[in-house]
Amino acid sequence: PTGGARNGGNSVAGTRGVVSVGGTGEGMDPVRLVGNCVSGKMGRAWAEGAAARGAEVTLVTTVPADLEGVHEIAVTSAREMLAALQSALPQADILVMAAAVADYAPETAAPSKLHRGKGPLSLTLPPNVDVLQQLAPRDGLFRVGFAAETEELTSRAREKLERKGLDMIVANQVGSPEQGLGSDYNAVTILFAKGAPIEVPRASQGEVAARIRHAMAAARHPAS
Ligand code: CTP
Repeated sequence: PTGGARNGGNSVAGTRGVVSVGGTGEGMDPVRLVGNCVSGKMGRAWAEGAAARGAEVTLVTTVPADLEGVHEIAVTSAREMLAALQSALPQADILVMAAAVADYAPETAAPSKLHRGKGPLSLTLPPNVDVLQQLAPRDGLFRVGFAAETEELTSRAREKLERKGLDMIVANQVGSPEQGLGSDYNAVTILFAKGAPIEVPRASQGEVAARIRHAMAAARHPAS
């Protein structure tokens, strides 16, 4: 019984969405990060499109962009992202976890700048927090994950959907320059906890975001 029900079920109007985007950077010392470089285009396209259609959108981002009508919270590390999402989520109907969280992170950042030596620098990077897994499912919250894969797209995405208890996962094939990471174009397969997958062929990031919004609306309100 959220905004979707009030507006006939085919739109995000009246819903409250929380979206994470960008790659997290994990501190090595006061001036260095290890992490993922991503453009955040897909998540931003979703946030912009949803806000333009009357959703209340909070963007938790490592790549601030000052999008119209979107409340932005800037973060750097996975831990900061988790804290920001935890504070925004109690009021939310939808979580779109489009961020590329660094899978490994230095345990602690050195308190002062590491200086260059003659030998190689060795870093030990324990596994980082799994942000999505920490944001537990609850009634009324539709949780969407993303999976960028170079091979076995559908089976790997299905495994993540189940392991993380998601309602939906958006899987995209990466490794080709024509689409996905950093590109203005994308092609995705959308998988659901319940229901048949949807193939979205190559289209602009904005069009793919629209297809994702429609798929979410249909999955949240299957009767309409
Ligand atoms: N994710 C997360 N925290 C992590 C890793 C991933 O919240 N430390 C989220 C991503 O934002 C994405 C989903 O989980 O929505 C799947 O991310 P992915 O990196 O593909 O999966 P992993 O759990 O890292 O599994 P693998 O390393 O096998 O790819």
